[in-house]
Amino acid sequence: MSETKQVVVITGAGSGIGRATSLKFAANGDNVVLVDFDQQTGEETLKMVKEQGGEGIFVQANVANSEDVQNYVNKTVEAYGRIDVFFNNAGVLQKMALFADIEETELDRILSVKRERCIPWHEIRAEGNGKARQRRHHKHGFDGGYSQ
Ligand SMILES: NC(=O)c1ccc[n+]([C@@H]2O[C@H](COP(=O)([O-])OP(=O)(O)OC[C@H]3O[C@@H](n4cnc5c(N)ncnc54)[C@H](O)[C@@H]3O)[C@@H](O)[C@H]2O)c1
Repeated sequence: MSETKQVVVITGAGSGIGRATSLKFAANGDNVVLVDFDQQTGEETLKMVKEQGGEGIFVQANVANSEDVQNYVNKTVEAYGRIDVFFNNAGVLQKMALFADIEETELDRILSVKRERCIPWHEIRAEGNGKARQRRHHKHGFDGGYSQ
């Protein structure tokens, strides 16, 4: 177990790699914030975290939706005061196909998740006004603010 508890946001926590990563961080003593748009599987992961003695919350969200992203960032800072790690894992896998054969609507769906799921990009765009800004950090992580 690490000496310092981290606050870790894991998207796509309801399944596969996201679930396994959530359980691993929680077993390490970290506080985990589980994000998924599937409420049932997200809550199942939270139950598994608690059953192994871990601490966490679940926030239902679509990572491709800006308001949802802001909401899980706010809920994390409210619950634990900061964010140390983003594990931006949520994503959709498409059927194996040649790039040229993928429908445009399918490509949009895949890319919207990959593009929007990263809060630093999202917030820098909103707050930066075209200037490069440096994220203001707590000792170890993000506290929701910026400095120039
Ligand atoms: N498994 C692989 O072989 C593989 C290979 C290459 C890349 N990846 C990437 O790794 C990541 C995880 O893969 P996995 O196999 O664990 O996938 P998975 O399908 O088992 O889990 C993905 C989770 O993300 C959630 N999710 C999907 N879109 C979301 C959205 N918009 N908002 C919130 N939650 C959303 C799903 O509900 C699901 O719980 C994905 O980004 C995937 O593209 C996986």
